[in-house]
Amino acid sequence: MRNPFQYGGVVSGESFCNRTREAADLRRSVENAEKLFVYSERRLGKTSLIRKVLADLPTDEYLTVYIDLWPTDGETSFVLACAKAFSEAMSTSTDKLLNTARTFFSRLVPSISANDDGKAVITFGFDQKRPDIPLLEEVLAMPAKAAKKEGKHIVVVFDEFQQILEYESDAVERLLRSSIQHQSEVAYIFCGSRKHLIQQMFMDSQRPMYRSGAHYPLGLIAEDHWQTFVSGKFQETGKQISPEIISELCALTEGHPFYTQHLCHPLWELCETGGAATSEMIQQATSLLLDRESYAFMNLWDSLTRNARRLLKGVAAEPVGTQVFAAEFIRKYQLGSSSNAQRAVDLLLKKDIIDKQEEGIVIPDRFFRLWINSKQ
Ligand SMILES: Nc1ncnc2c1ncn2[C@@H]1O[C@H](COP(=O)(O)OP(=O)(O)OP(=O)(O)O)[C@@H](O)[C@H]1O
Ligand SMILES: [Mg+2]
Repeated sequence: MRNPFQYGGVVSGESFCNRTREAADLRRSVENAEKLFVYSERRLGKTSLIRKVLADLPTDEYLTVYIDLWPTDGETSFVLACAKAFSEAMSTSTDKLLNTARTFFSRLVPSISANDDGKAVITFGFDQKRPDIPLLEEVLAMPAKAAKKEGKHIVVVFDEFQQILEYESDAVERLLRSSIQHQSEVAYIFCGSRKHLIQQMFMDSQRPMYRSGAHYPLGLIAEDHWQTFVSGKFQETGKQISPEIISELCALTEGHPFYTQHLCHPLWELCETGGAATSEMIQQATSLLLDRESYAFMNLWDSLTRNARRLLKGVAAEPVGTQVFAAEFIRKYQLGSSSNAQRAVDLLLKKDIIDKQEEGIVIPDRFFRLWINSKQ
């Protein structure tokens, strides 16, 4: 029987747990053609949620464009990624794809080829004879034009948006700001995972995207929802799991979607058909996963300064919300002074090993946290 727990890629349908309120919030934002920043720590389910919201929109009213900026590294690849995504979103046939691309992009030369599955894909080259037209402006103006031409609402999603901070100049950021301001009829979702970078982008008055949209931090999934989801999956496959065991599991993963699904996966394997999951099985499943990661964790650990390790030990062991600059913490974890603690926090934040959240400092990688605790 197939393991019902999935981790890694985008999840949908039966594998998608709750997020009803979040989906409704995003839907409303799209309907109002807002500009919204959606952010969270890594693997919290941003892409899955946004994909679901897009998929649930009525196709006769909405045109949806999803652009993953992860592979882009500058203005040129940004332009090409947008042009490709816009053309594909607007075209159902190969002919239409070429036509759309030619209509909207005067300086890009489209060509069609087949991918491994035989599906038509579009690629673009540049028309060197026409260097006068500013490409970036042209591409960014497309959603508004497309909205008019198709008589539909348009939603544009930029996933992994923090990637544009890696570009050589802030030209894309600046132009994006001015073009989205003039596109009152187009909904935009900017989605990213390096939380402090995304926050910095629209909370820092020096940056071009400053206050150019509302922001939506995505949170963990509450235990209640996992109770229904996890017990349902066990039951459907002829296995049992009690509410207490699910609680125990959620305490370890803190309800983080990726880690919860990841831990459920071996737990389900360990539980025999007709049997019930036990606390020992949770232990076994956890050590199995930590063993698998231990090489990477060890390398990461070795790359840190002594004070950073001490601070991490404390953060991993103490409840979330513990004050790391308090005298008590500094003494207990031998940090010496609050300025040492500050330096350690800065380093760990920069490396994305810890994250500052409303409730306090957390270690986003829930398995790394468990590994640190298992070492003491
Ligand atoms: N609503 C959900 N229900 C159940 N599992 C989920 C849900 N959302 C996310 N997950 C789990 O988390 C994993 C990562 O989801 P997803 O890729 O959508 O997150 P992300 O925030 O976009 O990640 P990244 O930071 O890598 O871009 C999924 O493979 C799945 O295991
Ligand atoms: Mg994602």
